[in-house]
Amino acid sequence: MGLSMALPELTGGSVAIKGALLDFVGDPFYGPEAEAVRYVADGLLLVREGKIEAAGTYGDLSPSLGDRPLVDYSGSLITPGFIDTHIHYPQTGMMAAYGEQLLEWLNRYTFPTERKFADADYARSVAELFLDELLKNGTTTALVFAAVFPASVDAFFEAAEGRNLRMISGKVMMDRNAPDYLSDTAQSSYDESKALIEKWHGRGRLLYAVTPRFAATSTEAQLKQAARLLDEFPDLYLHTHLSENVNEVAWVRELFPQYGGYLDVYDQTGLVRERSLFAHGVQLTDGEFQRLSEAKAAVSFCPTSNLFLGSGLFRIEQAKNPEHPVKVGLGTDVGAGTSFSLLQTTNEAYKVAQLRGQKLSAFKALFLATLGGARALCLEDRLGSFDPGKEADFVVLDPQATPLLALRNESGIPETLAGLADLLFSLVIMGGDRAVAATYIMGELAYSARAASYSGSPRE
Ligand code: GUN
Ligand code: ZN
Repeated sequence: MGLSMALPELTGGSVAIKGALLDFVGDPFYGPEAEAVRYVADGLLLVREGKIEAAGTYGDLSPSLGDRPLVDYSGSLITPGFIDTHIHYPQTGMMAAYGEQLLEWLNRYTFPTERKFADADYARSVAELFLDELLKNGTTTALVFAAVFPASVDAFFEAAEGRNLRMISGKVMMDRNAPDYLSDTAQSSYDESKALIEKWHGRGRLLYAVTPRFAATSTEAQLKQAARLLDEFPDLYLHTHLSENVNEVAWVRELFPQYGGYLDVYDQTGLVRERSLFAHGVQLTDGEFQRLSEAKAAVSFCPTSNLFLGSGLFRIEQAKNPEHPVKVGLGTDVGAGTSFSLLQTTNEAYKVAQLRGQKLSAFKALFLATLGGARALCLEDRLGSFDPGKEADFVVLDPQATPLLALRNESGIPETLAGLADLLFSLVIMGGDRAVAATYIMGELAYSARAASYSGSPRE
């Protein structure tokens, strides 16, 4: 065919990608799945200066190639980059901490680990490794907890900026029930967060999330300072944990007896809003799901973490109840989560659904990892699908990446949606990081399994 097989190291963000294109134009949890899925078996993705110019059939679009390099991924599936709606970069080195549930796990493993992030050089080296892992797993955007130290936020944003990634992060706020070495105060957390917001929010592709760790480690005064920041700056996020573990929920009720429950603590302090994202929500009541829906707030479903810490089984069908729909994304929640891979996360999400007598289809799973995540982060105008004008962050998935997958998917790229559902389900269950052949950021190759390389060098 005379197509270039070379992987251009630098494309200037203008490139053409040949392969099977899969994205979403709607939410497959509501209405027929076939109407939500957009699939072009013989596709071409045209990218100009980092943005999607067009997505369609190779036949229709190849005359518009112009002078941009063409990369042939025939036999692979191209999807929008995965979006991880809840992860902790300082916990990268403490995955697989044995034997505890949430509150003991925090005290025994998490707090001593996060202490190390007072050291900016250490924080920067972990941030780089963390971003390598994200890209290797096809994750192109994440909502990321840093640590309590402002230097840990600087380290993360500097590393993300060096790779031109769209990332959201913030300083942890924590003024009680934590070791002294990790504690701030209501005032210092406000001041330090404000300085970080002024420095980073909206700089390039970076966005800031006001990040009280969870209600149990904040006073009411601190939660109100968090809400004050949300009032003072446009488009900030609120990122915290909610109703993960039974003992945690009981403790929050004891700490805030004057409120009507866990979500109500956040609600009455002004933190339940459209750009608020609450991780876990395993123990939420029907009334709390309804309130989240009303407020247009989002929940991050973190199945590998919820299973690892024994927290419980998230009720996704209740979150997606058409009467009061809540925006849901997927979170790996590393380091309580057991994998950086959102495909591996969909695998565990499928099993959580099974244990509750529900079915999570492959299309629903991929929606959660792409456009669903973008909607949960109010970034659907920029990310999550191949609509023209969106940022060209995408993943190349090889359905035959291993001998076992090659056997499972020996017939290659399917023509029909039924065939595609079956192939995609094999990637949901068996794919993990090995299925990721390449990851592109704004039209530039950022990871390739073939070269096992990263474009980790800082931009000029
Ligand atoms: N709740 C408060 N802090 C944390 C954390 O670091 N991880 C998880 N999974 N839950 C939390
Ligand atoms: Zn978490």
